Amino acid sequence: MAGASLPSSFRAFVVDNKDGQFSAGIRELSPDDLPQGEVTIRVAYSCVNYKDGLAAIPDGRVVRSYPMVPGVDLAGTVVASSDNRFRAGDEVLVTGYDLGVAHFGGYAEYARVPADWVVALPQGLSMREAMAIGTAGLTAAISIQRLEENGLRPANGPVLVSGATGGVGSTAVSMLAGLGYQVAGSTGKAEEHDFLRALGASEVLSRDEVSAPSNRPLERERWAAGVDPVGGDTLAYMLRTTKYGGAVASSGLTGGSALHTTVMPFILRGISLLGVESVFYPIEARRRLWQRLAGDLKPRGLSESIAHEVALDEVPGVLQTILRGGVRGRVVVRLQA
Ligand SMILES: NC(=O)c1ccc[n+]([C@@H]2O[C@H](COP(=O)([O-])OP(=O)(O)OC[C@H]3O[C@@H](n4cnc5c(N)ncnc54)[C@H](OP(=O)(O)O)[C@@H]3O)[C@@H](O)[C@H]2O)c1
Repeated sequence: MAGASLPSSFRAFVVDNKDGQFSAGIRELSPDDLPQGEVTIRVAYSCVNYKDGLAAIPDGRVVRSYPMVPGVDLAGTVVASSDNRFRAGDEVLVTGYDLGVAHFGGYAEYARVPADWVVALPQGLSMREAMAIGTAGLTAAISIQRLEENGLRPANGPVLVSGATGGVGSTAVSMLAGLGYQVAGSTGKAEEHDFLRALGASEVLSRDEVSAPSNRPLERERWAAGVDPVGGDTLAYMLRTTKYGGAVASSGLTGGSALHTTVMPFILRGISLLGVESVFYPIEARRRLWQRLAGDLKPRGLSESIAHEVALDEVPGVLQTILRGGVRGRVVVRLQA
């Protein structure tokens, strides 16, 4: 099947590290350059995640082999499949696993992947919408599902989302608001309060307020739960301000990986700290969660407000912006003309 209906060359964003010399740029690849896998995909859209930014710098520590095509997410149409679960013409998506870090990823017009990584595009979601959600939105969805499993319901009170204008944050705000939660968002971008209110936040806090270091082990109980892609002092703040019996879902570290807290939130308020991991999230649970992402979790305003689109040539610039925390919402990458 390899290369049967593929063009002799196609475009990709490639990073390389030869003899300590790092390079990154758009290159032509041939079908023979594609890695092993049962499913060959004509990529329609990819997107930009924080991890993709790390893949595009020499000391990002996420790429495990060079040369590499970054892009941890992709959506496209199956061109050929030797696995009978998928056939030519199927619309599919892939997120995580080794994609874009140890296996050529989404920033290419074609990709080849193991069938076990592939999710059939659920009804109710276009390929572009799936990439507007991407790993960031999947992470928001896992966070919300874990909080629900811990007993979270809209009646419990407001939910705080940190890094609220970012990918995980903005999709979480929109999903929670759509489920009927009262949502508060914290952000370092003073000019984006209206954006967050349009997504459904009823309260906006400054990043300074939620990341101020404190020696107090507990503070006034404010939040029924927290969705935290920021980490560091913000995660510590959430733990000491979450209400009795609540939980915080921790997924990221844009604000730092160190956590300075005490056991008091755990032993005096019964707070749970829930870890969220999207890359190796089991495939069956992942396929079910994508069904929810096309249904009750589908972020409102996905295409109009949350996501904007760029071409492959614009990807290097966006990757720099996301590392500075400068991206608002989600960036979808269009691979086909
Ligand atoms: N566990 C997983 O499986 C998983 C999956 C996806 C992502 N992640 C992690 O989640 C984090 C967010 O990813 P993303 O793709 O959503 O990135 P993103 O779009 O860049 O969003 C991160 C947001 O964090 C805030 N922020 C940036 N720098 C900050 C700082 N110094 N202190 C506090 N807040 C800061 C900014 O929002 P405001 O300006 O609104 O404050 C920024 O937009 C990353 O650490 C990523 O690695 C983990």
